[in-house]
Amino acid sequence: MIDFNMIKRLTEEEFQKFARLIYEESGIFMKDTKITLLSNRLRKRLQALKLDSFTEYFEYIQKLPDKSKEIEQLIDVVSTNETYFFRNERQFEALEKYSFPDLAKKKTDKRLRIWSAGCSTGEEPYTLAICVLENMHLFQGWQVEIIATDIAPSVLDFARKGEYSGRRIEKVPPELLKKYFVQDKQYPEVFAISESARKLVTFYYLNLFKSQYPKDMDVVFCRNVMIYFDREHQRQLVSGFARALNKTGYLYIGHSETLHSISEDFVYVKLLDSPVYVPKERAHEF
Ligand SMILES: C[S@@+](CC[C@H](N)C(=O)[O-])C[C@H]1O[C@@H](n2cnc3c(N)ncnc32)[C@H](O)[C@@H]1O
Repeated sequence: MIDFNMIKRLTEEEFQKFARLIYEESGIFMKDTKITLLSNRLRKRLQALKLDSFTEYFEYIQKLPDKSKEIEQLIDVVSTNETYFFRNERQFEALEKYSFPDLAKKKTDKRLRIWSAGCSTGEEPYTLAICVLENMHLFQGWQVEIIATDIAPSVLDFARKGEYSGRRIEKVPPELLKKYFVQDKQYPEVFAISESARKLVTFYYLNLFKSQYPKDMDVVFCRNVMIYFDREHQRQLVSGFARALNKTGYLYIGHSETLHSISEDFVYVKLLDSPVYVPKERAHEF
């Protein structure tokens, strides 16, 4: 039996081959310094497929008549999925204090569509659902949809299950934990998201560089996703968001991300010190 931990690091050449494949399929850009990280993550696929070298794995993919399923698995192990409820909570406060009342005023069609792009294990879209539910006085009789998408099938499965514990729920205020989670009787450290929040969210597989984007969005959250892409892919992504968002819409990106020199379609508006962008036509409103 193979001891998978004994499989050495990728060689320089193997690393380049996998890095190119990953980049072409997902836009995820792996710097040369990520060789150990990539080796560790790929070992999981080697183990699952009982292959004993990285080269064998690369050749295995090339020979598949339909590569798409294995490429999905490859991207799944390679993607970084760190997330938690109420991550950068000031952005959710900005959403509740500014974006929601503004949209409630402007949207005569009474539809609120929110997209969590790169939703990982679901904490972000469920946090959005909790924020909507806390503001239902603004959206009585509205049709509310939260679309949550990711490229990694395993995180989507986790998200659909909707059970969380430990660090993932550490930042949920106690009163909201009580209101929007159900504590497991057998495993009291586990909290399941409430039916009311779950009902608002639909999870889909979506590759930001290969799939079609949803349309008519009022709010897009794409946080801590762009950092994995190079400039060219970031530009492509943001121009896609410009098309997906309504003119009255809002784009929330991560704290370490910027649209500076990436997009001319949006302007930065400072809402509670959070990075929020709106279509440039609305610059005068802020
Ligand atoms: C670090 S997580 C961010 C989770 C959440 N947005 C947050 O800020 O807490 C980044 C997510 O982006 C996803 N991702 C990376 N490349 C992608 C692509 N090309 N299409 C769709 N999702 C992608 C990853 O699978 C991962 O779950």
